[in-house]
Amino acid sequence: MLGHLPIPPIDPIMTINAAFREDKSANKIDLGIGVFKDASGETPIYRAVKAAETWLVQDQKTKTYVSPAGDLTFVQRAGDLIFTGKTLRQDYAGVQTAGGTGAVRLAVEVAARSECETVWIPNPTWGNHKSIARIANMNMRFYRHHAFQLTGSAEMVLEDLAEAKPGDAIILHGCCQNPTGVDYSESERAMIVEFVRERGLLPIVDLAYLGFGKGLEEDKALTTDILASCPEVLIAMSFSKNMGLYRDRVGACFVVTGEPKTVGVAQSTLASLARSMYSMPPDHGAAVASHILGDEALRADWLSELSGQRGHILENRQKLCRALAEAGVELDTGYISGGAGMFCLLPLSEEAIAGLRENESLYLGPAARVNLAAIRDVTLPRVAELLASVLPSSAV
Ligand SMILES: Cc1ncc(COP(=O)(O)O)c(C=O)c1O
Repeated sequence: MLGHLPIPPIDPIMTINAAFREDKSANKIDLGIGVFKDASGETPIYRAVKAAETWLVQDQKTKTYVSPAGDLTFVQRAGDLIFTGKTLRQDYAGVQTAGGTGAVRLAVEVAARSECETVWIPNPTWGNHKSIARIANMNMRFYRHHAFQLTGSAEMVLEDLAEAKPGDAIILHGCCQNPTGVDYSESERAMIVEFVRERGLLPIVDLAYLGFGKGLEEDKALTTDILASCPEVLIAMSFSKNMGLYRDRVGACFVVTGEPKTVGVAQSTLASLARSMYSMPPDHGAAVASHILGDEALRADWLSELSGQRGHILENRQKLCRALAEAGVELDTGYISGGAGMFCLLPLSEEAIAGLRENESLYLGPAARVNLAAIRDVTLPRVAELLASVLPSSAV
């Protein structure tokens, strides 16, 4: 029986992380991992998180079950971050999930159960989108967008989506595209959103980095445009990065139904899917996030620390571009300096990526994804020198 278990597909980022852990080199550098790092190489716990945890330990009276939908106060406060202003909508159901991954998983499952057979996935994208679509038995189609230039993606996106059929789902990165770091410009966004609306596609907005690009308001632009244009929308939110709650698994999944009378069915569908998959999401992180969102002082402190993390990433974007130029790299790095969020891609071959990893202990993510937050002042010269040895260079 169990001998017939098929070997599961390898998740490249997990393999890279494991290889890094096992590497004994004193000079090893990890730019592959997808977590925020500060200037000293740490992934800090937000002050507001510590304060909310202290409050929680003192205030919590019981550890009894919550419900498959999780902490509904948290869900409402998370929803308030996006369902505001011109996207003020009442026609949505929402549940707390185990991280953003749990939210994407539920959203794709809801799409699959709504007789949606095909999901359009960006290329390149976060590797788990494909694994999730596969496990939900969805047909996968792909649409390309630029990785090495800031604009011009809309034409490619629309060209590839020409074959999309009404009722197909489409995954869109809300902001800070992983892995490219290249977000659509305002006009590109408008073209893509209009296409999605006009073609009758079901958008699944994956909002894993809200606040990591330009700020909470600015980063929800695509979500806002989709909500203003499309009657039915699925949204997956993560608080792993923007509250640093990675291991506590905090996320939310929203189903915007287009008509208030179907919200109840959507809510029970989400709860019933959660119940059969894992019964209930973990409570601790959501209780912490909810407390921060609902407390004016903690929320202000969270936003100020988040703004500091954003600043660190932006600074590192500029530093890497300068260092590459000084090392003689001949690459138009405007897409790196002007990108959003933690990541950028480098135009490197698989051989070059493997060479850096195996010979120099420099670990990049799949397809040469660089976590810009993880570059430190002390490692920058070596990173630039090693990258210069494999990128087009004036020295060659
Ligand atoms: C695009 C994207 N979506 C969703 C997630 C899920 O994040 P988590 O499950 O850790 O909250 C990630 C994490 O890296 C991501 O990059």
